[in-house]
Amino acid sequence: MFFSSEISYKYLGAIDSFEQEERGLLLKSGKAALSITVITAGIIRVKFAPEGDFRPRRSWAVTRADQDWPAVSFSLDEGPEALVITTEKLKVQVQRDPCRLTISDLSGQILVEEGLKDGLAVNSKGGVACFKAMPADENYYGFGERTSLLNKRGRRYRNWNRDPVDTNLDHGPGADNLYQSIPFFMALRPNIGGYGLFLNNTYRSAFDMDWMQEGHYSFGAESGDLDYYFLYGPEPATIVQAYTELSGRTPLPPRWALGYQQCRWSYYPESQVLDIARQLRQRRLPADTIVLDIDYMDGYRVFSWDRTRFPDPKEMNTELAQQGFKVVAIIDPGVKFEPEGNYKVFEEGQSQNYFICKPDGEIFTGYVWPGLSVFPDFVKPAVREWWGNLHKVLLDSGVRGIWNDMNEPAISSTPFGVAGIHLDIPNEAKQGNPEEQANHAETHNLYGYLESRSTYEGLVRLRPDERPFVLTRSGFAGIQRYAAVWMGDNSSLWEHLEMSMPQLCGMGLSGVPFVGVDIGGFWESGSAELFARWIELGAFYPFSRGHSAEGTPQKEPWVWGEAVEAISRKYLELRYRLLPYLYTLFWEHSQNGSPVFRSLFYHFWEDATTLELHDQVLLGEGLMLAPVYRPGMRHRTVYLPAGEWYDWWSGQSYQPSQGQTILQAAPLDSLPMFVRGGTILPLGPVMQYSDEKPLDRLTLEIFPDAHGWANGQLYEDDGLSFAYQQGQSCLTRYGCRQVEGKTYLQARRIGPFEPASRTIEIRLHLPDGSLKSSELTVDSGDWEAEIA
Ligand code: GLC
Repeated sequence: MFFSSEISYKYLGAIDSFEQEERGLLLKSGKAALSITVITAGIIRVKFAPEGDFRPRRSWAVTRADQDWPAVSFSLDEGPEALVITTEKLKVQVQRDPCRLTISDLSGQILVEEGLKDGLAVNSKGGVACFKAMPADENYYGFGERTSLLNKRGRRYRNWNRDPVDTNLDHGPGADNLYQSIPFFMALRPNIGGYGLFLNNTYRSAFDMDWMQEGHYSFGAESGDLDYYFLYGPEPATIVQAYTELSGRTPLPPRWALGYQQCRWSYYPESQVLDIARQLRQRRLPADTIVLDIDYMDGYRVFSWDRTRFPDPKEMNTELAQQGFKVVAIIDPGVKFEPEGNYKVFEEGQSQNYFICKPDGEIFTGYVWPGLSVFPDFVKPAVREWWGNLHKVLLDSGVRGIWNDMNEPAISSTPFGVAGIHLDIPNEAKQGNPEEQANHAETHNLYGYLESRSTYEGLVRLRPDERPFVLTRSGFAGIQRYAAVWMGDNSSLWEHLEMSMPQLCGMGLSGVPFVGVDIGGFWESGSAELFARWIELGAFYPFSRGHSAEGTPQKEPWVWGEAVEAISRKYLELRYRLLPYLYTLFWEHSQNGSPVFRSLFYHFWEDATTLELHDQVLLGEGLMLAPVYRPGMRHRTVYLPAGEWYDWWSGQSYQPSQGQTILQAAPLDSLPMFVRGGTILPLGPVMQYSDEKPLDRLTLEIFPDAHGWANGQLYEDDGLSFAYQQGQSCLTRYGCRQVEGKTYLQARRIGPFEPASRTIEIRLHLPDGSLKSSELTVDSGDWEAEIA
C-alpha cells in the first residue's frame, strides 16, 4: 500500500504550543502531538501521534522504557523561529512553522534535515510517515534481511514477514520483503559519518530510499505512531552499539553451536541419520550438529516422533552424543487441527484457548505440513510458557537445540501440493492479553520473534544449566536476544553465494550477529565447483550449516568427489582452528553489539571505496575474506584499504599507503584471506567437534603493524553453562611490542576462570614474508616473553 501513487500525504503544519518535559519536549500542532525525547546525548526519540494520543508502550522490540535510561542533561533554547535542544553531542532544531526537524552535530554539521516538502505526515489511508532530505553522497545500509548488494540507496522495502514461496525469483536481488522485518537502517556519508534510524512500529511499514530519485527518503507505517529513534554515530560501530542497546544483544551461545551443522530436508530414518554422522567422522569432516527436518515427526505433529522411522530417539541421540554430535530438531508453529484425534498438543491448546481466533471468535485454520493447522497466540505470556514447556519431550530424548521454521507464519489456503494462495491470519484477529491487547496487524511481524522467545525461555526453564540454541527463519527487531537466524530458502546459484555476503553483513548491522545462509544452496541442483566455493566462504559464516531441499540431489561435502571433499575438510578444519577467535567475537558482540561478519566499511568507512564494497568481508576486525563467487574464476581482485595486510596463505605482506587493488590468484581450493597488520589471532588445534579436546595448543598468529605492534584477545569460559553470568570467565589480552629491535609479547588475564594448562605456540609473521616460531610451555595467564 505504501508505494502507490494513489496515496497522498498531509504534512504537519505550525506548532501551536509546547511544554518542556523531564527528557525533552511535547508539542502540539492542531490535534496532532509530537514528542522529542532525549534518551542519551546521542539518542533522540521522535514520536508523532496524528490524533494526539500516543499509543501505550509495547514490551516487544525496545528493551528499556525512556524513563529507565540514566538521567541526561540538555538545554532548551526558545527562539522565535525554532526551538533548539542541545545535548552533549547534538543539536535538535524544531522549526516552528511549519514544524520541521533538523539534527546537527555540535560543530554545526547537519546530519539529517527536513525540507519544505518533507516532515511528518499522515497519509490518505490513515497511516503515518516521515520524509527527509537525502544528501547526494549519503548511503544506506542494514534494513534487516535483504537481498541485493550492500548500499540500499534508491531501493524501497516493505516490512511484512512472509515466506517468498516463488523461490528463485522471489529470493533474488530484486526481492522485497522476506521472512524477517527489522525496520532499522544506517546512513553514512564519506568524511562525515552518519546515524542510525530505528522505526519502532510493528505494523506493516516501509522504507523508500528515494525510489523516484527526487532527493528525499521516507518511512512510514500503516497504523500506530510514527515512532523513531535517531542514533548518532558518527562511525558505524557507535551506531550499532546504540541500536543494540535499544533492541538487545545475543547472549553467548553454547560453543558447540558455532561448529558446523549438517542438515537436509530430511535425514530419516534413524539409520540414515547415523550414517551421515558416521560419514562425517570417518571422512574427518569436522561437525558438531546433525539437524532433523520435518520428517522425524509423526505426521508432522509438532512435539512427536515418528516411531517407525525413529523407534528409540533417546538411544539414537545418545549414540550420536558419544561421537560428539548434538541433535537439533525442527519445530514449526502450526499445530495439526485434530479435534477427533488423540493429539495432546491440540487438545491442550484448544481447551485453554491458546490458538488464534478469527474476529468472529471461531478458531483460525490454514494449511501447513500437517494439513489443516491452528496457530498459537505467542503474544500471550501463558501461551509462551505452555509452548516452551512442550519442548520437554524433545529435550528428554536428548535433543540439544531447536529450529523454528515457517513462523512468518507461512500458511496456505489449500493442502500443500495443491495450488492455492498464501493466507495471512486476519488483521483484525485479536492477540495477547488485555494488558497488552493487540490485533494481528500489529503483531504479525512479531510472530516468529515471540515463538523464538517462547522456545528460548522454555529451554532455559527446562535445562537451567545449559545455554539454549534456537534457530529461526522469521523475526523482528530484537530477535538477536533469542535466536540465530538463517536466510531461508536460497538456491544453488552463484548469484546466491555472492548475495550471502551483503545479506549477512546487513543483518549484522541490524543487530543480528548469529547468521548464515544454507551452504551449497537449498533449491536447485548446483555443481561441484559451486559447492567448493560455497563451503570455502560458508565455513566462516557465523552460523555455518549445510542444507538442501527435498527433491534436489544430496549436497553433503563428500558427494562432489574427492577434490571437493578435501576442500571442505580444509575449510572446516580452519573454522575449528579459529573457534577461539570466533567465540571471542561472539563475546565482543555481547558487550558492544558489534557484528561477527562485517562489511569493510564497518571499520574503514572513511575510505569511500569501501562504501560499495559488497564482495569482501571481515570476520571481526582482523581477518578479511575475499571469496570467489563465479564459475571458472581462478583469480580475483582484492581491495586492500590503507594499512598493512598479510596474505594468510603465503605470508606476503602489503603496505598500501592508500587503498590498493591487487590481483590475487585463487585456485579452486583457495579463498583469498588477508590479516590486518596489528592483529593477533588466537587459534586452537584441529578438532572433529567443538569441545573434543581442551584448547591445547593455543597458537597465537601475530601480524605486526608498521611499528611492529599487534594486539589480540581471547575470551574463555566453560562454553555451555550460565556460570559466565556469575563471572566464571576470563579474558586474556595479548600485546606485541617492538622495542630497540627486540620483539616482546605480553599476556594479561582478567577474570577467575582458569583454562586447563596448555602450551602456547607463537608465530610471528614479518613484513618480509618470513615467520618466527617459538613455544611457551606454561600459560600462567600473565606473562611476558621476548619472541624475536
Ligand atoms: C522450509 C524451510 C526449509 C525446510 C523446509 C522443510 O522451506 O525454509 O529450510 O527444509 O521448510 O521443513
